[in-house]
Amino acid sequence: MQLTSLGRDAEDTHPAATSEQTLLAGIFAYLNYHVPRTRREILEVLIKGLHRLEYRGYDSAGVGIDGGNSKEWETNSKSIHLIKQTGKVKALDEEIHKQQDIDLDVEFDVHLGIAHTRWATHGVPSPVNSHPQRSDKNNDFIVIHNGIITNYKDLKKFLASYEFESETDTETIAKLVKYMYDNRENDDITFATLVEQVTQQLEGAFALVFKSVHFPGEAVGSRRGGPLLIGVRSDHKLSTDHIPILYRSSGKDKKTCNTLPRMDEDTCLFPVDEKAVEYYFASDASAVIEHTNRVIFLEDDDIAAVRDGRLSIHRIKRTAGDHPARAIQTLQMELQQIMKGNFSSFMQKEIFEQPESVVNTMRGRVNFENNTVILGGLKDHIKEIQRCRRLIMIACGTSYHAGVATRQVLEELTELPVMVELASDFLDRNTPVFRDDVCFFISQSGETADSLLALRYCKERGALTVGITNTVGSSISRETDCGVHINAGPEIGVASTKAYTSQFVALIMFALLMCDDRISVQPRRREIIQGLKVLPDLIKEVLSLDEEIQKLAAELYQQKSVLIMGRGYHYATCLEGALKIKEITYMHSEGILAGELKHGPLALVDKLMPVIMIIMRDHTYTKCQNALQQVVARQGRPIVICDKEDYETISNSSRTIKVPHCVDCLQGILSVIPLQLLSFHLAVLRGYDCI
Ligand code: UD1
Ligand code: M6R
Repeated sequence: MQLTSLGRDAEDTHPAATSEQTLLAGIFAYLNYHVPRTRREILEVLIKGLHRLEYRGYDSAGVGIDGGNSKEWETNSKSIHLIKQTGKVKALDEEIHKQQDIDLDVEFDVHLGIAHTRWATHGVPSPVNSHPQRSDKNNDFIVIHNGIITNYKDLKKFLASYEFESETDTETIAKLVKYMYDNRENDDITFATLVEQVTQQLEGAFALVFKSVHFPGEAVGSRRGGPLLIGVRSDHKLSTDHIPILYRSSGKDKKTCNTLPRMDEDTCLFPVDEKAVEYYFASDASAVIEHTNRVIFLEDDDIAAVRDGRLSIHRIKRTAGDHPARAIQTLQMELQQIMKGNFSSFMQKEIFEQPESVVNTMRGRVNFENNTVILGGLKDHIKEIQRCRRLIMIACGTSYHAGVATRQVLEELTELPVMVELASDFLDRNTPVFRDDVCFFISQSGETADSLLALRYCKERGALTVGITNTVGSSISRETDCGVHINAGPEIGVASTKAYTSQFVALIMFALLMCDDRISVQPRRREIIQGLKVLPDLIKEVLSLDEEIQKLAAELYQQKSVLIMGRGYHYATCLEGALKIKEITYMHSEGILAGELKHGPLALVDKLMPVIMIIMRDHTYTKCQNALQQVVARQGRPIVICDKEDYETISNSSRTIKVPHCVDCLQGILSVIPLQLLSFHLAVLRGYDCI
């Protein structure tokens, strides 16, 4: 059977798609080798590991351990027991203690337990969709997975003879490893080789750990695009502090041999004098640090295997620049520090995640080679949407601003009237809604009460309802007729940041989809799609202004108020920047449409009032320059966020924050980030804790 053609998926062509990603969900596995542990102790380690990963956000959790209640571990390791539950890790723990058929006091001298917290991307949160996913009803192979397999539909077709039970992409991995095992060339095949054969067929981003009844007491992990590390704990001296990489072929060889080079004393990690050792596989050092600070970080396409208590790492072939060994590193970090990385709060971490979160929003949906957009969630409804009378965007807070930010490009590319409504006001007004309206509900959480009530209101009136949500399985995601998951990953910070930019990108993708067959707009579509391609790099460039913005915050933090002015594409940025400042710094801030200045707000401007203006080189440029003159005429000294190549504005302003240029309708993503950073630094300086 040939599988070589399956692994290619033209959709996932973004250059950043294979770099390190913030993947949804958490991986934790624990292998004790000649360190006797009762099942209760093993489960405690696994549950604790999952608790450490909780901060990343998740909606369900599961564990896979050896089954059986015999005194002999060899007997017990011939079956695998899975326990999975939706909701919190605590709910999983309760479920474990409800199990009648497992004896918690059975002791294991050697055992591998694997555990996972899942943030749903394929299929709603439910026990059957939770991980570990399994190869068959006998649980021959089980796997935990972080990431997204973009070619899972092709793999599923290939594996059609296997009975699938979940909606997940991960289940294809479990079935594929069984397929490889069932079709093995000889019985000497190792677990690591099977996993290698599997990962060669996978497209997308992943970190994986496998367990099998056919390879008791063995663990195999691999990664591509997502983090995976292995903690080692032993009271005895370890054989090496650098694990040499085993290569299946030299890279020059045309033919790849089927077996690995020798695995012996020189190529494995193990305790020298005694056999006792424990290994911890995790997607995040926070789950490991309380057990050991000695860890090995795996690289993309490494296959790491523990067999007979020895850890070896291999790769298919050696390529130029490869490091020939993986060093054991000593973590010096505290748990808190690891959870937030080098960031002091989740808000800051999420602001800095934006180059990755926008890639996750576009993954498998935008093809930058042939300038096409596919939104799986809308494909069956797009014709109906194209025929509608008007689009109504309904949301609260930041999500409402995402609607304001994209309204103009939606009007341009759909040629439909677009209303943007605050959910509470929309309901208060009993707004007329008709069967030929299409109502969008934009919500990070998918649970905001006013948005949900507005959704039910629109459904009752027969409108088609579309969700733009970050939370798979949330009420809005479930109750809308169709929609787009923005896949930004869990947003833990109270202030919404990465969800805003991902909602923005999702709405842009929708606008592009709506006009993909209109010849006259093709040059504009191409311009925007190519703008999306460079967006992650441009976001990184804006984030590099952090220090400069911190200095600005130091000058502003004792002020009472900040006014933020702009127009056109950047009106939403003003509203969003002001909302961020209010929400987390407790300072007064107001987003003002520059076109309204002369109708009242100008009265607030004098030489003391802090003013931030957004001026970009788009169709509103001259009008913004006029607004700048009006502010300066009142002795205002505005800080201007502008295009780094706009020399006119730079020379006319006393203070500028210079951001890179991008296509007009995406520029709002770049203009909002300095304000996210500013609000964060203001809050810190004013002594408030941002979560
Ligand atoms: C789906 C997978 C995604 C995978 C892609 C690859 C899910 C949840 N998503 O994404 O992980 O990368 O296939 O082909 O399995 N929906 C609503 N309301 C909402 C949001 C979504 O009804 O607010 C519906 C959609 O109409 C769709 C389903 O939920 O039926 C999944 O939506 P989405 O994740 O956006 O779909 P894909 O992009 O196809
Ligand atoms: O989950 P939602 O997007 O529906 O939430 C809507 C607002 O409550 C939310 O965006 C709020 O404004 C943010 N916390 C602001 O940072």
